[in-house]
Amino acid sequence: MRKTSVYLSSRLKDALSVRAAATGRSEAEVIRAAVEAEVQSGPGPGTGASSLEAPVPGRLVGVGVGPGDADLVTVRAVVALRRADRIVAPATAVDAVGRAEAVVRQAVPGLRVERIPFAMAPGRAERDRSVDEAAVVVAGYLDAGEEVAFVTLGDPLTYSTFTSVAASVRQRRPATVVDQVPGIMAFQALAARTGTTVTDERQRLVVRTALDGEDVDVDLAQPDVTVVLYKGGRRLPDLAKAAAAAGRLPGAVAGELLGMPGERIGPLADLAADGPASYLATVIVPARSPAPEHP
Ligand SMILES: C[S@@+](CC[C@H](N)C(=O)[O-])C[C@H]1O[C@@H](n2cnc3c(N)ncnc32)[C@H](O)[C@@H]1O
Repeated sequence: MRKTSVYLSSRLKDALSVRAAATGRSEAEVIRAAVEAEVQSGPGPGTGASSLEAPVPGRLVGVGVGPGDADLVTVRAVVALRRADRIVAPATAVDAVGRAEAVVRQAVPGLRVERIPFAMAPGRAERDRSVDEAAVVVAGYLDAGEEVAFVTLGDPLTYSTFTSVAASVRQRRPATVVDQVPGIMAFQALAARTGTTVTDERQRLVVRTALDGEDVDVDLAQPDVTVVLYKGGRRLPDLAKAAAAAGRLPGAVAGELLGMPGERIGPLADLAADGPASYLATVIVPARSPAPEHP
């Protein structure tokens, strides 16, 4: 070990103390981890976007921040968040901290996140209007020469508002450079927490939504397919019934508010017994492995 000394602004020093207390580490450990992340993400084989790069004026970057746990935010995402001139996050209102913003606050304390009000209601027209309004705001920042990081839960290219906002921005500013930083998805976090195999070489994987009125029986009828269900929280008892009818309730797991206050994880049957869950709920119905062949 070799020693080095740095001066920190009071704001950064305060944020460092908070981070150290929250994670049970010493301030020195937090500093060492941050320096390591910064240095490792620099130019070199396989390191991806570099924090040593300056922000690119007019670039829009979709940053996936994972499902909730601060330590599931990737190093590359942290680098992109620190590098951006502005971080924006969808929120139901300007005075409501959105889920993605909450993850950023925990993972990288001290960064300013600007909320963009967004109609989360399923109404198509209202949603389209929100997307266009968000795109106008983002395009304004890009026109001003900023690099904008748009944060989303999980991955920015999977069931994410980012893809529609980016498309709308591109319509307005066709030359916009759009980049993405992948994020860990909720179903991956749930699989890891429950030790559920997502697929092996004999199985297939379907990731789909289970909104009201969507039929999941066809997918559940295929025993070699692992079925991941998103957006089905309010239908949890119904989904458990459908899994049971297909003979696939044993082994099926559910996770609600993964990595967030109020988290619940367990067998689908147990969570469903309590009634509907929140919107942030994910179900995995694992494929059945074929019985080994005996000569
Ligand atoms: C709009 S989609 C966002 C998906 C996200 N882009 C991803 O890659 O995981 C919202 C759905 O993702 C799932 N989800 C996202 N975060 C979650 C969490 N923390 N806990 C449980 N499910 C979550 C739920 O199924 C929820 O209805």
